[in-house]
Amino acid sequence: MSELRFDGKVAVITGSGHGLGRSHALSLAERGAKVVVNDLGGMLDGTGASAGPAADVVELIKKNGGEAVASTDNVATPEGAKAIVQAAIDAFGRLDIVVNNAGILRDRSFGKMSVEEFDQVLAVHVRGSFLVSREAFPYLKEQGYGRIINTSSPAGLFGSFGQANYSTAKMGLVGLTKTLGIEGARAGIKVNAIAPIAWTRMTESILPAEFEAKFTAEAVSSLVTFLAHESCEASGETFSVGAGRVARVFVAEGPGWSQDDHTVEDIRDNWEAIMAEQPYLSPIVLGQQAAASMKAML
Ligand code: NAI
Repeated sequence: MSELRFDGKVAVITGSGHGLGRSHALSLAERGAKVVVNDLGGMLDGTGASAGPAADVVELIKKNGGEAVASTDNVATPEGAKAIVQAAIDAFGRLDIVVNNAGILRDRSFGKMSVEEFDQVLAVHVRGSFLVSREAFPYLKEQGYGRIINTSSPAGLFGSFGQANYSTAKMGLVGLTKTLGIEGARAGIKVNAIAPIAWTRMTESILPAEFEAKFTAEAVSSLVTFLAHESCEASGETFSVGAGRVARVFVAEGPGWSQDDHTVEDIRDNWEAIMAEQPYLSPIVLGQQAAASMKAML
């Protein structure tokens, strides 16, 4: 079987000074990609900054025979996002792959969550992914080819106590992925999301100790690396990934219940049919869902 290579390709990986991003950067570099290792170098809650983590990963990539440059810019500001993409252009003259991976946590139960805690988490995950993709988009469009991978989370897809800010952000990235996939299609830009579970500084205090050996960052990077490759045709999709398992996650709509002029009580009395899951519809485009509603009423 031929090896998937990235020779001549340039990748930006945000938040790649630690954890998953670091592993994605090493994986892509090992397969020939030139890499911008971006990391603000702060704490898990987003406070602080250090040039160390990004520089260390660059050094490791170079030691392994690869090419990389460091960026300590903040994904959450327009200037930072611009500088991250510019770093790729300045150092390597092009950009092909963006992995939006940078993230922070500000966990708090909903009743106690401050506006600042909500805003800051959305700023890094959602705004950051939007801003970096926005800066990269013209380059990808111009060359008629590109790959963007966003980092969602099971916490967003399925909910998680104490993470109203994080869940909102991570489900927001599923929407961004879908729409960017649609808008990038004509220009050969494929956009997908991952919902990983891996043992990193973000999860080591939450996951059971026995997860450390199995839920490796490398097990997530193999999917990210495949999604970044030009041979991967998927777009607009989200994949659950962890400990060697990869699964498609999709938004589905049940068959539904319909009746003209229904009352509030009709809704109550037909709750079981409304909640039914089979046979489900997983619209590829918005119109398919509207069409199903129209068909039911004819
Ligand atoms: P991590 O804390 O090791 O890595 C996140 C990196 O992002 C850090 O190196 C941090 O310095 C950097 N970063 C934070 N804010 C930044 C900013 N404004 N600009 C640039 N860099 C910034 O955590 P981990 O686990 O590697 O997380 C990576 C991504 O995966 C995050 O988006 C996280 O939410 C997501 N994720 C991780 C899961 C896991 O099981 N580890 C589960 C689900 C999602």
